Amino acid sequence: MKLPENLPRFDSVTPEEAQRLLCTCEYGFMPPRPECVSFSETLGNKEFCAGKAVLHKVTATVENNGKSFSFPFSYVRPNAKESVPAVVLINFRGNIPDLYIPTEELADLCIAVASFDYQEVSPDNGDFESLAGGFLGVDRSDPHAPGKIAIWAWAASIVMDYVEKRPEVDLKNVAVAGHSRLGKTALFAGLHDKRFSFIWSNDSGCAGAALYRGKGGETAEAIHRVFPFWFCPNYANYTASDDAFPFDQHWFLSLLAPRNVYVASAENDLWADPQNELLSCIAATPAFEALGVSGLIGNPEKSEAGLTLHEGTIGYHCRSGEHYLSREDWQKFILYMKKHLK
Ligand code: GCU
Repeated sequence: MKLPENLPRFDSVTPEEAQRLLCTCEYGFMPPRPECVSFSETLGNKEFCAGKAVLHKVTATVENNGKSFSFPFSYVRPNAKESVPAVVLINFRGNIPDLYIPTEELADLCIAVASFDYQEVSPDNGDFESLAGGFLGVDRSDPHAPGKIAIWAWAASIVMDYVEKRPEVDLKNVAVAGHSRLGKTALFAGLHDKRFSFIWSNDSGCAGAALYRGKGGETAEAIHRVFPFWFCPNYANYTASDDAFPFDQHWFLSLLAPRNVYVASAENDLWADPQNELLSCIAATPAFEALGVSGLIGNPEKSEAGLTLHEGTIGYHCRSGEHYLSREDWQKFILYMKKHLK
């Protein structure tokens, strides 16, 4: 596959500078960690999934300078004797089970899953006053203020604090995952929280895994028109053309090296653009190799349904069908994760 010409080279700046540019031009800076984090369990089901798992209903409370904020999440622990890998899923709903979480299959595969409803952290609109926005005192007159992607990613780290305390979790093998806008969010969470050793971004498209340059479907201009609040205010200065950014999204993937990054596409999801999601994995590969691990292994001609590249530190698949977080996406990701467990 041919990379777009004029793709900014990741090695033209230091990783610190690359991360600073992503924050100042696109997502804003990650909100600081709260001074105090605590958890209370409000309800559980000891006989979940026919007694194969335990459901924990948890409330996280964070505190800063006398202010506090709470949000709920769920944690499903499989009944396994050995320690288990875990996935933190940033989700669209708080339901358990949910159409985006194959809870029982994950319990059968001995994978723990923690999940939360992103809008219980901060609403998916321009409201920065309520919930976490108010708690964090987000000031959108600052050009580098966090957008919603950064705020939701901040919450994923709080959930990770809980996962870290679970005695059954194998902490070398914890993934952060999300679909679509929450796939963009999973990448940002992974960038800032090195406890996530697998970062899975499903159908994340524009401002997610896909390269901006040469992109089909959604462009920076289109995403900014509808969802300006996902980004920092300064994003508006870069959306006029697809080569206005001093970087491209392969820098985002590159900064996750040498951890495992998994990008999943759907063949008919042209708005997200499977080709540019795959090209980004190819363009990020040298940054992984520079750290002594493989990047994407394989020499695909294009992204198409059935393409599965699972050998490298960057993993990729494209399935048939539409924009969705499907059972097939989970099956492929779990296969990949099990293959690369530390
Ligand atoms: C819209 C948006 C995408 C986003 C998607 C989603 O389609 O344009 O950028 O990924 O919503 O989150 O479902």
